[in-house]
Amino acid sequence: MMKLAVFRAVMSIRAPILFLTASSLTGMSSLPRAASADHKGPLLIAHRGASGYAPEHTLAGYELGIKQGADFVEQDVQVTKDGVLICLHDAELDRTTDVAKVFPGRATLRDPFETGTPKRGFYTVDFTLAEIKRLDAGSWFNRANPFAARPAYVGQRIPTLVEAINLIGKRAGLYIELKHFTYYKALGFDLAEKVASVLKSNGFDQPGQRERIFIQSFYKEGLLRMLQVDSGYPRVQLLPMEDSGRKDDTSKVTTALAAEIAGYAQGAGPTKSLLKSAADVATLHKAGLVIHPYTFRGTTTANARRPLDEKQSDGTTVRAAIIADIQRYISYGIDGGFTDYPELWKEAVASQGKQSAK
Ligand code: G3P
Ligand code: CA
Repeated sequence: MMKLAVFRAVMSIRAPILFLTASSLTGMSSLPRAASADHKGPLLIAHRGASGYAPEHTLAGYELGIKQGADFVEQDVQVTKDGVLICLHDAELDRTTDVAKVFPGRATLRDPFETGTPKRGFYTVDFTLAEIKRLDAGSWFNRANPFAARPAYVGQRIPTLVEAINLIGKRAGLYIELKHFTYYKALGFDLAEKVASVLKSNGFDQPGQRERIFIQSFYKEGLLRMLQVDSGYPRVQLLPMEDSGRKDDTSKVTTALAAEIAGYAQGAGPTKSLLKSAADVATLHKAGLVIHPYTFRGTTTANARRPLDEKQSDGTTVRAAIIADIQRYISYGIDGGFTDYPELWKEAVASQGKQSAK
């Protein structure tokens, strides 16, 4: 087993990414590392693409994420009626497309979070890929964020996972989330098997390619299934877990939780507020896990962006608050993080580096 310090350094270097080490516990023969010797700082994961600047999960947003220096670009995957994997955060199409206008009367009642209370919406599983490809997935962003609007975003389409792979090529890694794993399972879709199959048919199972992938899920069951169908991709458990049968609290870092996750995954992706201090990061590291928290975007959210130079009530700018947030967690010792603002991540890392060099 590789020493922790070496492992963390290896995990925090930039793509293009290579492999090393072994973990008999988790079925992995190797874990990601980077080839570029000049890369400093933790992994930059473009959350839903550069989603602070461009519509989330569109090729325009993924392209911008790469241009802003992302090591990995995130894909949340959902399934169409005809079984195709598409990149979309929500199980329904309502929030980020014009589905209600294009297909009025097609809403259904479904329960992707398995709460027992189905919600009316336009769910991906009720539409074929051909139908979904008719939707505009970019105009909502321009309407919601006039200060960041661009004509090129109008008419952006929801990409398939294969289209995301084709666009990203070897310029960055893919950080794929198995969304709503048990909801899709109940509908007869095995998300882990589908992702493994797409990755295999695009050559990611070949030597030197697996390290370009992370598989993440809020569902332990999803990661265990991934381990079963193809154990060779690094797995990251998002926290808190969303497995519906789970009784114990997974919203606190404990030694027991860290040990449990290390039994089937290589990393943990906690919501930031779950990491109270460097001690929580140390607890996860001691179990051998890499730590990639989400989401670095300051006080903005996916649905409520603000101009970066706008002053907040405390007198700081939106931009400064995002940078300070990133620097705080980097000082805890995280190995990477999901951010909507890749260029600010780079700025945060660079200015923190300069400060600590003084
Ligand atoms: O996957 C990491 C982070 O994206 C989890 O939150 O809801 O944006 O998928 P969400
Ligand atoms: Ca995600």
